[in-house]
Parts: sequence; structure tokens; C-alpha cells
Amino acid sequence: MKFFIDTADIGDIRDLASTGLIDGVTTNPSLVAKAGRDFKDAIREICGIVPGPVSAEVTATDHATQVAEGRVLAKLGKNVAVKVPLTVDGLKTCRLLRSEGTMVNVTLCFSPTQALLAAKAGATFVSPFVGRLDDISENGMALIADIVEIYRQYPHLKTEVLVASIRHPMHVVAAARLGAHVGTMPPGVFRALYQHPLTDKGLAAFLADWKKTGQSILPPAKVAAE
Ligand code: G3P
Repeated sequence: MKFFIDTADIGDIRDLASTGLIDGVTTNPSLVAKAGRDFKDAIREICGIVPGPVSAEVTATDHATQVAEGRVLAKLGKNVAVKVPLTVDGLKTCRLLRSEGTMVNVTLCFSPTQALLAAKAGATFVSPFVGRLDDISENGMALIADIVEIYRQYPHLKTEVLVASIRHPMHVVAAARLGAHVGTMPPGVFRALYQHPLTDKGLAAFLADWKKTGQSILPPAKVAAE
């Protein structure tokens, strides 16, 4: 499973990219507003930090303007994936931008039929929002199960299921169990994937016991230099 970070915060992106575990970044207009940065500058910078796909969303709702915006966004970095909403205009824009070789992430997907159409339009990624479905007492992960099952019936479809609106680590676990290709999550959720209190407790005990031995693995001079 690929891990994308859902943020436009450059500090978080730099920090998490340094782990070597981040495969891409997704942004949306709300995240850009939160970061308080010039949108195009931020996307250029993110593309230089993370080699994988960086989603940058169009803000127009009509096809012609979406295409014009998408072409501008695609030039910001060779790893830009233009994000378009799952509307009929967005699907038309997806098809056209894909024919020009641009990666496209079709976002705001809330149903299996929408996901089928995104794949038919040649989307590189489709982004079903699990958290927002859970928020209204629907089952977000059931939608992922449906989409993964449907796409598997048609192996020629290359669209990757990008699970979005992830709110906690159990969303990641459930998405991985279903075989979703990608999960995009806020930095805090990514960090929660590797944190465990028993790891911290066990490490503290090992270090305390090691100290009692009076030994060091590195030569003393090297230890002192660090
Ligand atoms: O980027 C799209 C998505 O991940 C947004 O998540 O938490 O605002 O529903 P959320």
C-alpha cells in the first residue's frame, strides 16, 4: 500500500519525506488555505521534496476552465497529479488531461458508480472520502470494498483507489485489508501508524538495562563526538 500525506504544510512534508516512507502528497483548496501559502509556489516546492505524485486541485467547475487550470498546474512539476471533482465536467476534464499524459486524481467520490466513471475516464487515481461518509452515518469503508471489488472485475482498468478523508489508523488498516492501492492521511495519522506505547516502554527498559552493562557499541571517541 502506498502512503500519501494529505497536507500543504511544507514543514510536515519535509519531516515525513525524510523517513523515505512517503509515496506522494495530496492537497485540496481547504488545505492550501490552512497553510496560508501561495498555491503555485507551494505545489512547486512540494514537487521538489517528494518525487511521487503531488495532487493539486483545479478550482473551476466548468470543463473549459478546468482544462486551462489543469494545464497550468501540470506545468508546476513533472509529478503533479491534477485533481478534479467528480462531476460530469470533471470527468470530461480528466479524460482530456489524461490524453495529454497528465496524471489525474478524481476527487470527492462517494459512490461506486462515480468510481466506475472515473476509471472509464482514465483517472490515475480515484479518491473516495471514507471519513466524510462515516460522519453522516454511512459506511465509508464499505464504499472502498465495493470499488476494489468492481475494479478487480476489469483488470484493464489502471485507476488506483486512493482512500481519502482518512481520520485514524484503523481506517488505514481496513483499507489495507481490502487491498486499496493508496491511503492519504493527515501527518498526525501517519505518525500514529508507527507509535505504540509498548514500543516506547520496551525501548526504555532495554536502554536502562544496557546502561547497567557500561558498554558501548561505537568506540568511545565516536560516542563523544556525537
Ligand atoms: O484531501 C481530501 C480528503 O482527504 C479530505 O479529508 O478530513 O477533510 O474529510 P477530510
